[in-house]
Order: sequence, then structure tokens, then C-alpha cells
Amino acid sequence: MAGDGPAFIASESGKQARPLPESPGGFPKISEFQNQGDRKAMRIGVLTGGGDCPGLNAVIHAVVRKGIIHYGDEFVGFLEGWRGVLDNNTVPLTLEKVDGILIEGGTILRTSRTNVRKIEGGIEKCVEVLKANKLDALIAIGGDDTQSVTNALIEAGVPGVGVPKTIDNDLNGTDVCFGFDTAVMIATEAVDRLHTTAESHNRVIVCEVMGRDAGWIALTAGVAGGAHVVLVPEKPIDLDHVCAILKYNHDHGKKYGIVVVAEGAKLPDSGEQATKGEKVDSFGHARLSGIAEHLAEEIEKKTGYETRSVNLGHTQRGGTPTAYDRMLATRYGLAAIDLVHQGKFGRLVVLHGTKIEDIPLAEAIAKNRTVDDSFLSILTSLEPKL
Ligand code: F6P
Repeated sequence: MAGDGPAFIASESGKQARPLPESPGGFPKISEFQNQGDRKAMRIGVLTGGGDCPGLNAVIHAVVRKGIIHYGDEFVGFLEGWRGVLDNNTVPLTLEKVDGILIEGGTILRTSRTNVRKIEGGIEKCVEVLKANKLDALIAIGGDDTQSVTNALIEAGVPGVGVPKTIDNDLNGTDVCFGFDTAVMIATEAVDRLHTTAESHNRVIVCEVMGRDAGWIALTAGVAGGAHVVLVPEKPIDLDHVCAILKYNHDHGKKYGIVVVAEGAKLPDSGEQATKGEKVDSFGHARLSGIAEHLAEEIEKKTGYETRSVNLGHTQRGGTPTAYDRMLATRYGLAAIDLVHQGKFGRLVVLHGTKIEDIPLAEAIAKNRTVDDSFLSILTSLEPKL
């Protein structure tokens, strides 16, 4: 087995790096990087699961570059998340393949929401495919759903490491997930733009942003974008209070209003989330959408102010990552490949303050990291005294 980690696949390369294909065109030959000191080449699987997120490619880029150049590794990319493992749908990840992807949004490996644990024999099938690919380790880049499968595979003996991804920023145990900063920048710019059109028409505009269980995007983009009201899943919506703020502002010369609401906030009348259709995904999540439209109708009824709604939806997940996300994703990727070579499996790379550390993966999926009181108090501190 290459590396010092727990035995998973008996490979021929105990002391010597296995021969890797030479890289055609432009790039240094992989063999030039092998056998440096006590570094041992490994064969590593990589996948991206769950909703896509700006920065996924930057993680893949960092993992593959450091793995090949520094450790002499060989990489197998699984296409479309866990579905690609179940179907053994793979692509070699080479230096050429990852060249230039750092700055690109989306994921070159594509993704899916595939809950292997819900499929009979799914975990066993994954283990079989990973073994058939003669892997020494697996790096799974994803949020809590993806990592719940990684964790189940780790329990089944797979040497896996996780990288935290979600624009919702709600993965437990890390201060920030990559992709969040980009989503916030996009949402903030949208909120900025809504001010001028809302003001020109004396309108209230309710802007719906993503955030299934946690209101981090709503809170950050709402505060940064100067919204007059911000509504998050962590706090029940008091519609009378919302209208009172808008009315106060109106009476004091501000004839328009901007409300930012997280998609996962609960409807004031039913206490339920607003959903589109009955369908749920394989992790049991309904398709959230429509709270802004609902609130806009209610606000117009209660205040008499013309009120419109806008749903930013997947715009927040698209496009190129911010410099912050590229850097964070790169740091996560580099830390993940180091963890693999240290044999520290069952871990998730995380950001604590400014330091990259690692925690047990099981801890990360135990609960969501929601907006706490200290952050919620930012909202109340900025409200007018009614
Ligand atoms: O998990 C992140 C997220 O962007 C949520 O905020 C949102 O509810 C969900 O994904 C949307 O998922 P999909 O792309 O499958 O509609």
C-alpha cells in the first residue's frame, strides 16, 4: 500500500512509486517528480457532489497539481459525484486536464445529488468500484449530503478525506466554505441594483436568495447591500414588524424598501418553507422557491405600497469564483492532498480563523452551522426604533 494510511488496497508500491504515464506536451514529465525523499506516489480518486459551487475547479486544480508534482500521484476523476462511482464513470485527471481551470466556475467533473445510502447495496457497490480502480484514497468535495456518503464509505473501510463545499456556508466545523463569498458578492450586487429601481418607482422589492437551512447569504448580502429588512430561516418572520419598519422608513422620507429573504425562511402564516412542487431529491430535500413572491403579496396587502419580488436562484451559484474563494479552495485542496499522504483519513479540511486545520468528518455532518445570536443581533442593531 502506498502511503502510511490504513490498508485498503494492496498495491505493488510499498517503497517505490508505481510508474505513471508520461505527460505529453509542455508539462514536466511526471516521472521527474517521483521518488523525492520519502514521498510515495498514490492513486487517488476525486469527485464533486451536491449542488455545484464556484471554487470546485480550484480545489481539483490544487489537489491534482500538488499530487502529481510534489508526490508523483495519479488521479482518477469520478464524473457526476457518487453516481460516477456507482457507474464507474471515470476520467483521468492530469496536469493538462486541470490546466487553466482554477478560475472557472462549475466543476469539470460535473456533479449530482446521489444518495448512495438510499440505494440497496450502494455502499458495497461503491467499495467494489473504488477497489477495482486500485485506489489508495478518495477525496470527496461536497457539502453535508455528499460528506454523509463519504462518512459511510469511511466506515466501510475506504480511506477518504473531505473538502467542505456549499454556497449556503452551513457545514459544521468550518468557519467558511468556498463558494459562499462568490454567492454573497453576486447577491450583494443584485441588492445594490434593486435600490435604484425600487426608489425610482416608490416600490418595495423582496429579493429571495439561497440558503436552505441557514441564512448566511441573506444576512451577509442583506447587510452589505443595505437592505431595510433581512429575513433568515433561523428566526420566525413577524410580518407586522416587517411592515412597521417599511412604514417607518416611508414616513421618514424613504419611499421605497428592500427586503432580502433566504429561500429557507418559514412562511409567517403556516411556519412551513415555500416549495415548488411535491418532489424531493434523494436526500429528502424539497425544491425551495417562492417565499419572496408570497411575502411581496402580503406586504402589499398590509401596507398598500406597490411590492414586487425577485428570486436570484441559481445565478448565485454560477460563474467564476471570487479571488477569496479561489484562494480558500486552493488552500483546502492542498491540505486535502497532504492529509491523504499523511494517512489522516476520515477527516475534513476546515478553516479556523485564518488557519487550515482538519476535523473528524463525522463532526461536520452531525448538524448544520446556522446563523447564531451574535450575527442575528447585527440585524436588530440596524433596525429603526419603532
Ligand atoms: O445546497 C446549496 C443550494 O444552493 C441551496 O441553497 C438550494 O436550496 C439548493 O442548493 C438548490 O439545489 P438544486 O440546484 O438542486 O436546485
